[in-house]
Amino acid sequence: MNRIDKLLASMTLDEKIGQLNMATAGQAVTGPIVGAPTTEAIRDGKVGSLLNLFGSEATARYQKLAVEQTRLAIPLLFCADVLHGHRTTFPIPLAEAGLFDPETWERTARAAAAEAAAEGIALTFAPMLDIARDPRWGRIAEGPGEDPLLGARFATAKVRGFQGANLAAPESIAATAKHFCAGGAAAAGREYAAVDISERTLHEVYMPPFRAAVEAGCAAIMPAFNSVAGVPMTSHMRLLRDYLRRKLRFDGAIISDYDAIAELLIHGVAADRAEAATLALKAGVDIDMVGGVYLAHLPEALARGLVDMDDIDAAVRRVLTLKQRLGLFDDPYRHAASAARQMHPADELSVDVARRSITLLANHDNILPLAGDLRRIAVIGPLADAPAEMLGPWSLAGDPSRCVSILRGLRAALPQCEIAYAPGVSAKGEEAGDIAAACTLCAQAEVVILCVGETADMSGEAASRAAPGLPGRQRELAEAVLATGVPVVALISSGRPLMVSWLADKARAMVATWFLGDFAGHAVADVLTGRFNPMGRLAVTWPREVGQIPIYHAEKPASRPANPAEPFSSKYTDLPVEPLFPFGHGLSYALVTLRNLRTNRHEFSRGDRLEFLIDAVNESAIATEETIFLFAHDLVASTARPLLELKTWAKVALAARQTKTVALTLSAESLRCLDDDFRPVLEPGEFDILVGLNADRRTLLTTRLRALPHGARES
Ligand code: BGC
Repeated sequence: MNRIDKLLASMTLDEKIGQLNMATAGQAVTGPIVGAPTTEAIRDGKVGSLLNLFGSEATARYQKLAVEQTRLAIPLLFCADVLHGHRTTFPIPLAEAGLFDPETWERTARAAAAEAAAEGIALTFAPMLDIARDPRWGRIAEGPGEDPLLGARFATAKVRGFQGANLAAPESIAATAKHFCAGGAAAAGREYAAVDISERTLHEVYMPPFRAAVEAGCAAIMPAFNSVAGVPMTSHMRLLRDYLRRKLRFDGAIISDYDAIAELLIHGVAADRAEAATLALKAGVDIDMVGGVYLAHLPEALARGLVDMDDIDAAVRRVLTLKQRLGLFDDPYRHAASAARQMHPADELSVDVARRSITLLANHDNILPLAGDLRRIAVIGPLADAPAEMLGPWSLAGDPSRCVSILRGLRAALPQCEIAYAPGVSAKGEEAGDIAAACTLCAQAEVVILCVGETADMSGEAASRAAPGLPGRQRELAEAVLATGVPVVALISSGRPLMVSWLADKARAMVATWFLGDFAGHAVADVLTGRFNPMGRLAVTWPREVGQIPIYHAEKPASRPANPAEPFSSKYTDLPVEPLFPFGHGLSYALVTLRNLRTNRHEFSRGDRLEFLIDAVNESAIATEETIFLFAHDLVASTARPLLELKTWAKVALAARQTKTVALTLSAESLRCLDDDFRPVLEPGEFDILVGLNADRRTLLTTRLRALPHGARES
């Protein structure tokens, strides 16, 4: 008998159910605290894991209770949301995704894991892997954006980063891929709303990041709050038990979302809590986060014959196995023993990633980088001197007092300039502010840096916005500033694309500065002054107006493609169909053109390796790093295929005036599509391969190749 079998054999029903129960620590001004009832419950063996407690001393204190005062001495599992850094805050995931750089994604997760582990955290509820094509949904900020391949690569990198090669290593924490599945498709972008999408879309678009996470050995998965086609994900037998556990062979822990088992009653699929516990347990949910439903009602479900002991044992075994993989049985304090470790070892990485996450959206007449002889600048707007906002949503342990505001960053970078500052209006209030005073400052300046956007709490969970434009009176401020006629560089701080086409039309430059973390201000200053050449790309299509949502590059053909000259075509009568900025868009200060796309073969079969070469020409005197995207379009298939499917990308560093030939390779298998049973098949026929600097179809270079019928080449 191995250790877990032995342990399981010696456990009472209450002790077993205790392992399935996750309690929460509360928040006090001094940090996380554990209330008296939870402390009691830990002593009684009724708590298997604890949410939101961190700090090496605090976690050690409660671990001691579990290890020294419970009969079986099973260690607690400390869990927290470490989404984009722990003490050191990195840019929000949507911004970091725009690096298109798996190595960096992995490094930031590794750094966050090390800091979190040093404070006792053993498991994070990350990475968040919801594909999102609707910027009304505030949680778009937390994930990798709109594309399944990007999401899958992000998933692999993040799982590797958090978990390392060995989950028991002191710098490793367990990753939780969430929210399985399709929360990003919530109806009308409204948080927690039901999802109703086709099974094909589910498998083609929403599953790939989760498949990648499972393949990378992700320790845990969290089902989404929402229902999919009428079945809540927390009790989704077909997707949790049949697909995740049986088909993908996921054998890690499934952790419910916050109180989600109890919410099965609200979904209207359980008549009482014993039924809710039954549905979740039978579907494969091992841990009940905070709801206490397993704790209070699994005994009843067992007595009523709704579940049997094997169901409970299977869940307990998975929880104990996770604890074992983390090394907790050998050293329950291993994560909490390092109080002396440096608090912010990742500062350099944070500023580097912040710079690289910035997306230069528009730059008319090359107003950026700012001219070296500028002497008077006005920095205007409510996000200019808002250090705490730079942390963005989901900053559990971030320290607002460390954050560098945009104003502070600019002042530090431009000591020779007179920098006048006025917020103009508050970020989201309706009070009048002092727009006139702000405009007076603008009139005396050579250029205005207009810092507008959202506050940190306007994206993330429960932050859906029906009209995600500039909140409060910021538009009024912006219009007044633009009316002064002084050139305006608009910086947009936000957790999502904001509907600001009117601003893009009038500002001389527009920059997405997202929420960049601790060193936002320095990163922004480096980009605006040209000390750093921007390289961030959009991981999500940026719409013009809410009416275009959902909007994404991988759309399927319309029966009558959009044609402004054709009344009966798939277009709007009042707006272009094109977004404001396409997926992958992002300028640099260099000018790069792509030429001469070619391939090593025009016909291919299964197992072939396809190589595409393209010349990247830096026409400017500025060194740069570009991201080159390769899309495929399967021209004739058994089901309609997207007009563009991202298949790979490459990054290329170009010195001034340099030309490089860039190779992009694909396996023939990467051009497969899913058949009627959602199995991948390579269908014979023609494919277009389209390569370019973003997903604007008008700018892509194309070559065509043909997949031969299986066995054709041999015959
Ligand atoms: C969120 C999860 C998060 C959990 C614990 C929930 O409300 O949906 O993403 O991990 O809370 O904080």
